[in-house]
Amino acid sequence: MMGLESKHIILGVTGGIAAYKSAEIVSRLRRLGADVHVIMTRNATEFVAPLTFQTLSGNQVVTDTFQTPENWQVEHVALAQLADAFLVAPATANMLAKMACGLADDMLSTTLLATKAPVFVAPAMNTGMWEAAATRENMSRLQARGVKVIGPGTGKLACGDVGAGRMSEPAEIVEALQAYFAEGEDYRGLRVLVTAGGTRERLDPVRFMTNDSSGKMGIALARAAQGRGAAVTLVYGAVTQPLPEGVSCIPVESARDLLRVMEKETPRHDIIIQAAAVADFRFRDASDQKIKKNGQHEITLVMVENPDVAEAVGRLKKAGQTLVGFAAETGHLEENAEGKLTRKNLDLIVANDVTRPGAGFNTDTNIATLIWRGGRQEMPLQQKTELAGKILDRILALRKEGR
Ligand code: PMT
Repeated sequence: MMGLESKHIILGVTGGIAAYKSAEIVSRLRRLGADVHVIMTRNATEFVAPLTFQTLSGNQVVTDTFQTPENWQVEHVALAQLADAFLVAPATANMLAKMACGLADDMLSTTLLATKAPVFVAPAMNTGMWEAAATRENMSRLQARGVKVIGPGTGKLACGDVGAGRMSEPAEIVEALQAYFAEGEDYRGLRVLVTAGGTRERLDPVRFMTNDSSGKMGIALARAAQGRGAAVTLVYGAVTQPLPEGVSCIPVESARDLLRVMEKETPRHDIIIQAAAVADFRFRDASDQKIKKNGQHEITLVMVENPDVAEAVGRLKKAGQTLVGFAAETGHLEENAEGKLTRKNLDLIVANDVTRPGAGFNTDTNIATLIWRGGRQEMPLQQKTELAGKILDRILALRKEGR
């Protein structure tokens, strides 16, 4: 990906335990050639000393600690105008609320209000705060104004809770900025429909058959397309990841649910990317009551074929639409994937050999071969977030060729 030479990035650091990770963000941005200016809130200085950011950025750090409101009037305008991008990381619930309301009561919020640069936020907070109705409303308002949200991820939080609210990793945050500058908003005006996660086929009210899909690949694609300006719809089955903010999300359970949604949504989208792991079979005799043992020592469950959703979408394809499928294979990767490319009327297929370490289901990384009529491209081991960007690049290249 591109460097960030000559880009002026203003980094706002607010008071959360994740503030220490922002030091790595500054180092990474500097290594890419960016000119970084840090503004810290008073609370942030309790977590990390301004000198750390001053040393890493090579620029004077602006804090509220010893500066008077008179200084803000001068400095906030200068930094707001200098910014090519404004990043707030970590962004606490409090700072997001101030931004949503347009409050300007410290150096950071004042500069944010004054800037015309694109604003990115990397939220970090306790799961309860992230899920609170007030935060949800604030996030919707900010996104409606074009603020780009990076993360948060899920995991163990500093407070001991496990859930959404953990600040995204510095590498992911910096990649989002790089992607913005590299691609600009080359998906603006395009409507992208993405499927993610595993479908579930019910046996009875308490049992179902599913697969290991986490939704990471599909969600990375939805986020990347949104970051590049697309209007994105995400149709998701069982996923382990937080859903992207600002994307229209439609939940489904079974392959037949997915089919119903896709038949409705396909006609109003330009690009359809099917990364979901869809069950090929379902139970013929699913019960609406819990199945009891009744003294039996074995039972026979009969499965019947599910509709192939991608094939159905392929039949709906109109001029100007680009259809992308995935192939999860355990052998004969390219041969099987090419068969699916033709049978499902796809323009591009992303073939992953799910037996390879670091590829396929429930990993942060993938290894894939992109196959289209007349071409292929190997994608060595890389983060799914990175692969998602390259798949989007290939889709645009195919569309430019009129496919
Ligand atoms: O979600 P992750 O944990 O990140 O894992 C990512 C992934 C491994 C799920 C993803 O990379 C992937 O390979 N997704 C496709 C899984 C799959 O169902 O592959 P398939 O080869 O069985 O199907 C081929 C294509 O047809 C897929 O686009 C699939 O969505 C679609 N399909 C399959 C069966 C079916 N009945 N209907 C379908 O639409």
